[in-house]
Amino acid sequence: MLNPVAGYLARLHARHADARDGAVADYIPELSRADPDAFGICVATTGGAVHEAGDTGVGFTIQSISKPLTFGRALDDLGEERVRRHVGVEPTGESFNAITLDHDTGTPLNPMVNAGAIATASLVRDRHGDGAERALLDTYSRYAGRGLAVDEDVYRSELATGHRNRAIAHLMRGSGAVAGDPEEALRLYFRQCSVLVDCRDLALVAATLANGGVNPVTGERAASRDAVRGVLAVMATCGMYDGAGEWMYTVGLPAKSGVAGGIIAVVPGRLGIAVHSPRLDAHGNSVRGVRVCQDLAREQRLHMARPDRGAPPVVRSEHTIAEVGSKRVRPEAQVAALADAGRRAVWFELSGEVAFAAAEAALRAVGAVAGSADLVVLDLHHARRVAPSVVPLLAELGHGFADLGAELILSGTAGHDGLVDALEAGSDGVRPWRPRVFADLDLALEWCEDRLLEARSVPATMAACTPDEHPLLEGLPAPARDAVRGLLTRRSFPRGTTVLEPGRAADELLLVLGGEMSVILPAADGTPRRLATISPGMVLGALTLFGGLPGDELVHADTDVACAVLSRADMEELRQRDPASVALLLEGLLRGVGLRAQRLRAELLHQGAAVG
Ligand code: DON
Repeated sequence: MLNPVAGYLARLHARHADARDGAVADYIPELSRADPDAFGICVATTGGAVHEAGDTGVGFTIQSISKPLTFGRALDDLGEERVRRHVGVEPTGESFNAITLDHDTGTPLNPMVNAGAIATASLVRDRHGDGAERALLDTYSRYAGRGLAVDEDVYRSELATGHRNRAIAHLMRGSGAVAGDPEEALRLYFRQCSVLVDCRDLALVAATLANGGVNPVTGERAASRDAVRGVLAVMATCGMYDGAGEWMYTVGLPAKSGVAGGIIAVVPGRLGIAVHSPRLDAHGNSVRGVRVCQDLAREQRLHMARPDRGAPPVVRSEHTIAEVGSKRVRPEAQVAALADAGRRAVWFELSGEVAFAAAEAALRAVGAVAGSADLVVLDLHHARRVAPSVVPLLAELGHGFADLGAELILSGTAGHDGLVDALEAGSDGVRPWRPRVFADLDLALEWCEDRLLEARSVPATMAACTPDEHPLLEGLPAPARDAVRGLLTRRSFPRGTTVLEPGRAADELLLVLGGEMSVILPAADGTPRRLATISPGMVLGALTLFGGLPGDELVHADTDVACAVLSRADMEELRQRDPASVALLLEGLLRGVGLRAQRLRAELLHQGAAVG
């Protein structure tokens, strides 16, 4: 596989591989055994792609990078209020092992310094008792997407030498910041710091944070969205200790370092970055790790204060029904009427996350057609989520259209549980709004077309017709019509059966006299696409009969269907007897094919617009 991103990471790796400044941590004796030259860079995306350079499979302990993960677990288990009574969210400007507590409350300043992390661990211990380690390992494993375990040597080494942490824990027991036995809290904290990971694991931890708490490879949730917001906030302000300001200035991403040489940085919504290199600077942060992140952020413009990282456009497409209508194949008179009346109906497809900023753009675009459209369809099929805060805005827009004598219609709401209920309930001082809702955009468009035609008194689609009334015969002079009619045989298809199978060349023309059918493209990926609705007055088989190619579409009878059949042999016979009537018949067919071609062209143009 060609991978230019891994190539870029390899160049970044080569650029910093010769740096030898800094020193491997030795205050935990076991850590001094690390290979000082080990160096890995890994980037994982919220789409689940992983790119690596260097020694990304070398094991090391997670150390302080465990702190945000435990903080997230505590937020989820105990709730924000309880957690924040025990630990603050203010940067210290001091080193990671500072013995600094809030003057008034005796609580640690934030969960990223050792004091705050020990207090957080004590809360998890208090909640889970002896199951606390299991709970944390389970959470960390979900972040990494594989089962993680404790490095017992590092644990024993830190347990035996961690006097400063022990002092901090007991001090906080005195002030009440540590819940329960301080020795148990310490043991849990040392064990969480001793979890063995590699650089790739940490990239997935970071990508899971970037992805709102869901591991993008396994799809498993490691933390709630709300917890992740809290975690990233403290990482942004306190994750790099007394280097936090410099880090925010130069890199500008929520991050966390560990004394075994790991660093993670998070580009929310996009990327997780991990670097491993054991030599540390004076703040306890990996020297090469900081430099790699600085280069990456500068070169790839990842700083979160950069305004050019806008979300993709939320309005995926905007069309009038005159431009792109429903998939119903309509008789000529209706097509002509809709080419004009269709300008009064507009439809929008939204995509992505519809929260305030995106919703503002979308609702402004929809609101802009007020006065020039009578029917407006808002399709939410491609929208990932409609934020609850958008509900009153949407309801207000619905009322606004109604006040103008127009109607706002919703479609594709299936993936948005509770949205319609919330609209109908009313909120934030906005009256309840009961929108007309369709399962999919096409059905909504079809409904709008019927309304537009009704308003112009254009006859609705035929319910059924006789062979003589069928548009293909209707236009023929009487002798030709009689000749064709004499050759027709009747055939019916019960509801639910297949009218035309894919892959077979038609040997006959089917003139639809009654019933409704769907033309379906059976898709390789398992989700068939409905291409058109066929109703009385239409003809099936013309393209494959004359083009000689087997069609790849399937025609399914949605109701009982009645057809009149003209076989190839009969047509041949007619050609011998009365070539003029065959010519007229073909002319009629060609008109129908022309209309289909026009529709397909409009759809292609629409798809082009959606992608671009
Ligand atoms: O408590 C300690 O000292 C270690 N277990 C973790 C410290 C750490 O990783 C600081 N970060 N750079």
